[in-house]
This record gives sequence, C-alpha cells and structure tokens, in this order.
Amino acid sequence: MRVVVLGLCIAVVLVARVADAQMPLPSAKPPDGATLFKQQCAVCHTLSLSEPARQGPPLVKVVGRTAGKIEGFRYSDGLAKADFAWDEARLDAWLTNPQAVIPGVEMAYRQAKPETRAAIIAFLKELN
Ligand code: HEC
Repeated sequence: MRVVVLGLCIAVVLVARVADAQMPLPSAKPPDGATLFKQQCAVCHTLSLSEPARQGPPLVKVVGRTAGKIEGFRYSDGLAKADFAWDEARLDAWLTNPQAVIPGVEMAYRQAKPETRAAIIAFLKELN
C-alpha cells in the first residue's frame, strides 16, 4: 500500500513538473517611458538647456510648451512658424508622423505603436 501511495505522489509531482514546463513564458515587460526615450529620442534630443542641442531641440518641459520656440535652435520653417502648444494629442500625432502634423519638418522618426507613444509622452509629462 505504502509503495502505491509513494508511487502516486511521485507521479503527481512529475505531472506537475511537466505541466510547469509547458506553461507559456510570461511575455517580457514592455520597457518604460524613460528607457524608450533613451533608446528612441535621446540620439537627437537632450532633456536640458545646458547641454548642447543635438539634431533636434531640447525637450525640456515640452508638454504645454509652444512649438518651435527654443531660442537658438534652427527649426525648419514650418515648425518655426507653428502656432500651437504641445499637448498629449499633438505629441501623439507628431510621434506617429511629424510630416503629417506639419509638412516639411525635419524629424526623421515615426512610431506606429500607440502604447510606445503613450509611454514616451507620459514620461515627458512627468518631467514638467
Ligand atoms: C533622428 C533625429 C530625431 C529623433 C530620433 C527624434 N527627433 Fe524629435 N525632432 C528632431 C528634429 C530635427 C526636430 C526639429 C524639426 C524641425 O525643425 O522641422 C524635432 C522636433 C521635435 C519636437 C518639437 C519640439 C519643439 O520645440 O517644438 C518634439 C516634441 C519632438 N521632436 C519629440 C521627439 C520625441 C519624443 C522623440 C522620440 C520618441 C523624437 N522626437 C525623436 C529630430 C529627432
């Protein structure tokens, strides 16, 4: 009898192990906004006015900031003449396709994934 019970226990453990092994791995956590900014924006944008500007203007307090108005940065004509402030909706459209927001602008970046855009915009908002 004992042997049978022991055998059953071992069988249960083995079945559980096999079931474990077959469980799908949890999908990797998506990177947070700060990491995404570093990976996708920081080559062209700093987050401070004291560092030299890169290819794009510094994005200090960009949420709520009037577009195209960082002193000393040479914007394209379209962005220099822009007459709106960056809010979440504008930023979302901009990151999707800058040229669709203002024709002729010089930002070579597009992000098709809404969740990636949202994470980056949330990060920029936190910095305000
Ligand atoms: C390849 C370089 C490059 C990358 C990558 C890039 N940008 Fe830009 N960005 C630019 C340039 C250049 C401009 C100015 C465009 C112009 O004057 O037409 C700009 C302008 C902007 C502006 C307008 C700022 C203002 O002062 O009105 C915002 C906002 C912006 N970028 C956000 C981002 C974010 C957020 C990312 C990352 C998801 C990003 N950019 C990635 C080059 C880049």
